[in-house]
Parts: sequence; structure tokens; C-alpha cells
Amino acid sequence: MEPRECLRPLLERRSVRVYQDREVPLETILEILRVARWAPSARNQQPWEFVVVRDRSTLQKLSRIHIGARPLELAKAAVVVLCDKEKAPVTYQVDCANAAMYIMLAAYCMGVGTVWINSLRNTDEVREIVGAPENMVPVAIISMGYPAESPEAKPRRPLEDMVHLERFGNRLR
Ligand SMILES: Cc1cc2nc3c(=O)[nH]c(=O)nc-3n(C[C@H](O)[C@H](O)[C@H](O)COP(=O)(O)O)c2cc1C
Repeated sequence: MEPRECLRPLLERRSVRVYQDREVPLETILEILRVARWAPSARNQQPWEFVVVRDRSTLQKLSRIHIGARPLELAKAAVVVLCDKEKAPVTYQVDCANAAMYIMLAAYCMGVGTVWINSLRNTDEVREIVGAPENMVPVAIISMGYPAESPEAKPRRPLEDMVHLERFGNRLR
């Protein structure tokens, strides 16, 4: 495989918030989650649990946690990425962010559109909706469906603005 071919999903994935009226088969979601297991985590603790939500009324409830959660109203599925803060008290958020990102990239590779829905301000509510215990923190909700939009790329800060050579402040230019 050409190295650039390997970068395509990283460069071409976009957040997709509008979906076709077509179910995402459970087997497809499980295939995505099988890939997500390969996300790196501190001490390989894999402190995540994935709640797959396809039930309409649960998706509706999740879509109401805040205004930015609206894509879940039309989503065909969602994966609530829960992280065990007792298992990984220092790194749980980053460990689970890795898993969430792997879900999004794997989904993209399988033709499934996703958007990350923030759940960190609504942890109690989300826990309650999916019946998760107190030690599990919902780090992300990944909204899913076959894309019904092809969003433009969102602008990115130029590399020169973010790279420092050896020491902070030594810019590329
Ligand atoms: C931590 C995090 C929280 C986000 N929360 C939301 C959200 O609640 N609702 C939403 O529509 N998009 C959300 N997004 C998606 C971002 O808006 C999106 O990734 C960003 O605008 C860049 O667009 P792109 O993913 O198409 O490159 C979130 C992304 C991240 C990483």
C-alpha cells in the first residue's frame, strides 16, 4: 500500500451530521468496534466500554442533552464511549478519546458517517440514559449513519502556527 493511501481516511474524514434513512446493521457497528479495540491506551488497560444505541427513543433522549447533540435525532445509531475512571484514574479521558477516534476512522473506512457528540458536560444524564454505573464516565457519544451530506473541509490552522523546533517559540519560519 502506498503510504499516502494510508493517510486518506485521516485527511478525508469529515464530521457527518445528516444521515440517510437506512439502518446501519449491527454487524457493521460490531466490526467498527472490533477495530476500535486496537486503539492505544496507557498500560494497555483498555478502560473503555461501548454502549451501542439503536433504539429510537434512547437516541431521542441523547439528542436532547444539549443543542450540539441534535445530529442524534436523525442518527441511525450511536456508540456511547464510557470510560472506567477507577481503572485508569489519570488517563481515562485520553484513553477513551483514542478509542472514540478509532471508531470514527473505522466507520469512515466502512462508509459510515460519524460525528463526535460532546458528553463531558452531561455525564450524569448520559449515564442515566444508558444505565451506566457511577465509575463509568461517558467521554464521547459517536453519532452514526450513512452520510446524506458531503461536508466541506473545516479550515485547519497552518502547520507553521503550531510547530516548535526543539523549544517552544522556535517557529518554522
Ligand atoms: C471533543 C469533541 C467534541 C465535539 N462535540 C461536538 C458536538 O457536541 N456536536 C457536534 O455537532 N460536533 C461536535 N464535535 C465535532 C467538531 O465540531 C468537528 O470535529 C470539528 O468542527 C472539525 O470538523 P471535522 O470533524 O469535519 O474535521 C466535537 C468534536 C470533538 C473532538
